[in-house]
Amino acid sequence: MKTWNRKDLTGLDELSSGEIEFLLETARAFKGVGERSLKKVPALRGKTLVNFFVEPSTRTRTSFEVAAMRLSADVVNISATASSLQKGETLKDTALNLQALQADVIVLRHSSPGSAKFLSERLDSSIINAGDGAHEHPTQGLLDIFTMREKFGRIEGLNVLIVGDILFSRVARSNIFGLVKLGAKVTLVGPSTLVPRSFEKLGVRVVHRIDEVLGDADVVNLLRIQHERQRKEYFPGLGEYTSLFGLTKARAARLKPGCLVMHPGPINRGVEIDSDVADGSQSVILEQVTNGIAVRMAVLYLCAGGAGIPA
Ligand code: CP
Repeated sequence: MKTWNRKDLTGLDELSSGEIEFLLETARAFKGVGERSLKKVPALRGKTLVNFFVEPSTRTRTSFEVAAMRLSADVVNISATASSLQKGETLKDTALNLQALQADVIVLRHSSPGSAKFLSERLDSSIINAGDGAHEHPTQGLLDIFTMREKFGRIEGLNVLIVGDILFSRVARSNIFGLVKLGAKVTLVGPSTLVPRSFEKLGVRVVHRIDEVLGDADVVNLLRIQHERQRKEYFPGLGEYTSLFGLTKARAARLKPGCLVMHPGPINRGVEIDSDVADGSQSVILEQVTNGIAVRMAVLYLCAGGAGIPA
């Protein structure tokens, strides 16, 4: 497939492998824009993007803003505290008002799973999911996959470990959907309370001992414990979590030389990842952040009506 016919991006679960490949190829073309001295193209001149973040964000909000500016779109940022959600307005009414203000694209981060899909079915504006509760974070999944593909030249057959709080992770779900569609071998690792066997139905392996699988990994993608979504204790304490599942220096020494250490951020140094390992030679954590710009340029460009891959 070499075309894109969607106005929205609400999740990777609903995309075909061809659509994911097309997004990645488009992102590859846009990555070159960030390597020029004049980092700007006129692709979305005259379009307006509203970044509507009802949950905190550093990377996603900023990189959508940078991506939109590189495409010459106009950008407006609003947060929950600065919006009339605080006065009892519904999400749908707020979004309809943003549409009435001629927003071509609304980038939404919200705590409710399905919120982006809900708006996409009710608005003509493009809706991009920037994280909906524990459901999906499709552009994070895409930028993770983009980074792996850039380093290895392929996704098919890669051994990818995703380690940590899978149950509450939208990043994990988007990675799983995208990676499995592109032929990676995905293994989820963590305590049984946070990595239940029910994930196996998504086409992944579930393992509860990291030391059994670490040595075969091409990629180790570490996740933070999502305390903000957990309503009870899922493990005895952070010290025990680190000793059983953290990428400590001792564990990092057993990785294959070419194995990538990844993390979507924000990282909790000394918990899921040792501080020196996070800054070490196998870490691509900050490259992931940079790649997020190209991936989000591709998503904005295609959903806002761009045609083929730009030259
Ligand atoms: N990875 C990620 O979504 O980071 P932010 O919460 O800072 O956007």
